[in-house]
Amino acid sequence: MPISTSLRPGAPDRAVAHHSRYAALWDDYSQLWDRDPWFRQYKHLGDEWGSPQWVDHVIATYAQPWLSPSAEVVEIGPGGGRYTCELLSRAASVTGVDVSPRMLARASGRFAGNPKFHGMLGSGTDLAGIPSGTVDFVFAFNVFIQLLPEDIYSYFLEIGRVLRDGGVASIHYATLSSEEGWKHFDANRTQWSASPCARGRFTCLPMQAAELFATRAGLAVIRHQFVGRDAVLAMRNADAADSPAPGATRRDFRHIDRHLDELASDIYHELPTPHHREAARETVDEYLRSIEFESVIELGCGAAPTLDFLAAMGKRTKGLSLGFESCSHPILRADMQFSGLRDGATDLVVARHVLEHSPMPLLLLMEMARITTRYALVVVPCDEEIWVNWPNHYSVFGRPAWRRLFDRAGFTIEREGDGRLEPDSTEWRFLLKKKHNG
Ligand SMILES: C[S@@+](CC[C@H](N)C(=O)[O-])C[C@H]1O[C@@H](n2cnc3c(N)ncnc32)[C@H](O)[C@@H]1O
Repeated sequence: MPISTSLRPGAPDRAVAHHSRYAALWDDYSQLWDRDPWFRQYKHLGDEWGSPQWVDHVIATYAQPWLSPSAEVVEIGPGGGRYTCELLSRAASVTGVDVSPRMLARASGRFAGNPKFHGMLGSGTDLAGIPSGTVDFVFAFNVFIQLLPEDIYSYFLEIGRVLRDGGVASIHYATLSSEEGWKHFDANRTQWSASPCARGRFTCLPMQAAELFATRAGLAVIRHQFVGRDAVLAMRNADAADSPAPGATRRDFRHIDRHLDELASDIYHELPTPHHREAARETVDEYLRSIEFESVIELGCGAAPTLDFLAAMGKRTKGLSLGFESCSHPILRADMQFSGLRDGATDLVVARHVLEHSPMPLLLLMEMARITTRYALVVVPCDEEIWVNWPNHYSVFGRPAWRRLFDRAGFTIEREGDGRLEPDSTEWRFLLKKKHNG
């Protein structure tokens, strides 16, 4: 691909394809970085854009939830590699696609000894060279803020193409919808209008426009939040059947979204103990052997011992989790409260020790009633003081309150009983049947 470097801010050359313009701008910056002594205070290009703490925060909030040691990752615009470095330590591979040969040379040089990194020179608008349906996670930070809207949409189409079912893209872009984003736009619009090809020119989209691009590209929005002046859009490539209905995101959930992020820091990883496995086996034997179902989805499945037993019974199993415990069933990476699964996606939905972790248990039960055609299996801890006070337990109720919630969510209780949670504590088990359903 011939790269034009003839273009300079303030001298737009309409004959030069815009992707070449991106390449020229960033090749220039790369050269400036080597030339200008001011940059010598930094080790790598990009370190001038934020502290290591900021990089940690971005990775923890906008990448970590969708990374796993087996994840195949694509990073658009890795630049000097400050995020790439973190992605590499949390994934199986990272393909860095950059439009600028000089920028790509930096990332490729920095990670030359790391077989997990692959550098790829891109056209600036597509992910050509990356096979369809092979990517678990696409990440871009500080890149889409400066792309033309047409190119943002082209990339979204490409993201939809390369993501596997259930894969996620987390894309940072500049928005008009935040207070600071609007001020930034308003303060700079005259200057941007005068030099539309300058590197510092931002494309500020209203949040609705970003979501429209996503939906039109066949992507389901799973999280959309401000990051300071800008925004990050998390999108999932689901089967058409698994996508939320159009308009599902039209309410403004930003505050709830922020509260859920705050609560996310309470989450701890529970190791699968032999005791938990035994309790799962007992529950399957007592409650699920005698009912008819073909498919099962387990919410918050963790290492998924219940699914192991059900798979051995010949059932079609699927797990849903934000964690990355190893598990041998197909996994949908999603927040259980916002699964995006279609109505009636399964015959049985299982929620073992997850409802007590939800700050919105009735809404979660309603979601369970929506996605199951027939049954739900719910296991919760008893209402002992210790569980009420345990971290990350927001919904520890007495039996009558649970029964009322099941009823309100559209379930009848088919069977209920007790079992051992820990040697000296009890769990309550409920087999629920969806009302008005054969
Ligand atoms: C501001 S730097 C950000 C680098 C890195 N993501 C970071 O935050 O440190 C923008 C990077 O995106 C690349 N880039 C710009 N436009 C691009 C496009 N259309 N497609 C792919 N990469 C692009 C640039 O070459 C540069 O490496």
